[in-house]
Amino acid sequence: MAIDLARVRADTPGLSHVLHLNNAGAALPPSVVTEAVIGHLRREAEIGGYEAAEEAEGLLERSYDAVAQLLNCHREEVAVVENATRAWDMAFYAFPFRPGDRILTGKAEYASNYISFLQVARRTGAVVEAIEDDEYGQISVAALERAIDKRVKLIALTHVPTNGGLINPAAEVGRVAKAAGIPFLLDACQSAGQLPLDVEGIGCDMLSATGRKFLRGPRAIGFLYVRRDLIEKLEPPFLDLHAATWTGPDRYEIRRDARRFENWEVNFAGKIGLGVAIEYALEQGLHAIAARVQKLAAELRELLTAIPGVTVRDKGRDRCGIVTFTAERMPAEELQTALARRRINTSLTTTSSTLLDMTERHLTAMVRASVHYYNSEEELERFAAALADLICVP
Ligand SMILES: Cc1ncc(COP(=O)(O)O)c(C=O)c1O
Repeated sequence: MAIDLARVRADTPGLSHVLHLNNAGAALPPSVVTEAVIGHLRREAEIGGYEAAEEAEGLLERSYDAVAQLLNCHREEVAVVENATRAWDMAFYAFPFRPGDRILTGKAEYASNYISFLQVARRTGAVVEAIEDDEYGQISVAALERAIDKRVKLIALTHVPTNGGLINPAAEVGRVAKAAGIPFLLDACQSAGQLPLDVEGIGCDMLSATGRKFLRGPRAIGFLYVRRDLIEKLEPPFLDLHAATWTGPDRYEIRRDARRFENWEVNFAGKIGLGVAIEYALEQGLHAIAARVQKLAAELRELLTAIPGVTVRDKGRDRCGIVTFTAERMPAEELQTALARRRINTSLTTTSSTLLDMTERHLTAMVRASVHYYNSEEELERFAAALADLICVP
């Protein structure tokens, strides 16, 4: 079923204030999400934080079901944490790497992940290797296959990089990982909410994502999936009294479900908001969302390509809702600021987020315009006209 544009726009009050093409930064939430978050904060103020959490237990638990439905996994395989970075960290830092172990990743890997690879490599003597791209600019699955040997202990890949429209072939990577018996950690931070995600179909063993981006949830809430048979093999880098039970003066027991990767204190309103946001996305249908996002992004790429001096920089065989570009006549920083002055939200993507890919392409900064299903064709035309006007195309 196609998206009911009039309805989803009516559900999104932010659209009457801004032209929002920063959905890969943080998308505009539907009213139901804002109301759920504010409603819980109000209850905390009225009856007390602990009491409000107890009262909302059903809603809080529903968030796990929502994540499980979104990913096609079991609720016991889900941890809800502060953000995608912490979700990813809790899985990655749980691996006991040794000298000579190899970690394979891609060229467009996100900075926070890569910094963690480097830290762990320094600490343990493991090595991190970025597999080359194929002719489309996505990870080369053939090169990945060639790189596999007994020393490879983890494949960790970003599904949709922060700096462009590329969709990495996660399911093909999953097949390689499975055939070799190597754990596969997928960073789905930029794909959750804009593409269907099925951990069985993809074949990943761990997946991290955030609420505020394409899922349209609140900020500072994210989640981690860990495959059931891996949970008890991974000892979280941090434990607290929620993740484990203190069973004797010198003993503790770690939980057996994925909540061992959580900690006790959490943004309860955010957790409720995350569940409501996912339920809203599921109601629209992830296939319908993906189809509309990809159609809008293709239209936007066409509009931008038609503006003299503008270069669309997206790579990949399959492309998503993130559209990146540069303009000959104006540096990306200036352009993004000038657009913001016209209440047009985009973001800036720079070398510091994806150093390997940006350096290889001799790029330092690009403007990132990311569409969501609630954007209209008219908004895209208005955006392209404003851009042409700013860079003085007659
Ligand atoms: C690919 C990727 N991974 C992880 C993150 C981090 O997400 P969070 O800010 O929720 O920790 C981002 C944020 O932009 C991202 O683009």
